[in-house]
Amino acid sequence: MADCFEWLRERRPHSIHAVCTDPPYGLIEAIPSGRTPDREEAISDHPCLKPQHFMRIIVRSLLPLGKGVILDPFMDRASTIAAAEAVGYESIGVEMDDAYFRQAEQTVPRLTRLYPNFVGDKPHAAWRFQPAGAR
Ligand SMILES: C[S@@+](CC[C@H](N)C(=O)[O-])C[C@H]1O[C@@H](n2cnc3c(N)ncnc32)[C@H](O)[C@@H]1O
Repeated sequence: MADCFEWLRERRPHSIHAVCTDPPYGLIEAIPSGRTPDREEAISDHPCLKPQHFMRIIVRSLLPLGKGVILDPFMDRASTIAAAEAVGYESIGVEMDDAYFRQAEQTVPRLTRLYPNFVGDKPHAAWRFQPAGAR
């Protein structure tokens, strides 16, 4: 991972790649993650579904004090909304496509129920969660 941080520093010195999460982690420079687990892809047919662990960390970092509402105005099949629900944040999703909206109604509760002990507060858990060959 140190190599990854070096790469970012050298090649993307002005990009935003710092995320604030709960203590004791504070500012981190990247979120370790991996491929979306098969069990998540089995729930949603989104072609590039992001891992719930990753999304929960992102959502939590948006409201580090836990106050406010997560709004996703382009919800699609709602992986962001599912992550917000799992973290325990109030959320609102807007989607213009009826079929996607209906799929979201089905998938959000199922994605939210996964990993009940992970609420996005430990950035490195996302990396540990998915070792190679254990999808
Ligand atoms: C790339 S997806 C967003 C991914 C999603 N936020 C997630 O958590 O995975 C973009 C979505 O925005 C929807 N969309 C595009 N224009 C919109 C609009 N004006 N109002 C609501 N939804 C819109 C599209 O139908 C599409 O499902």
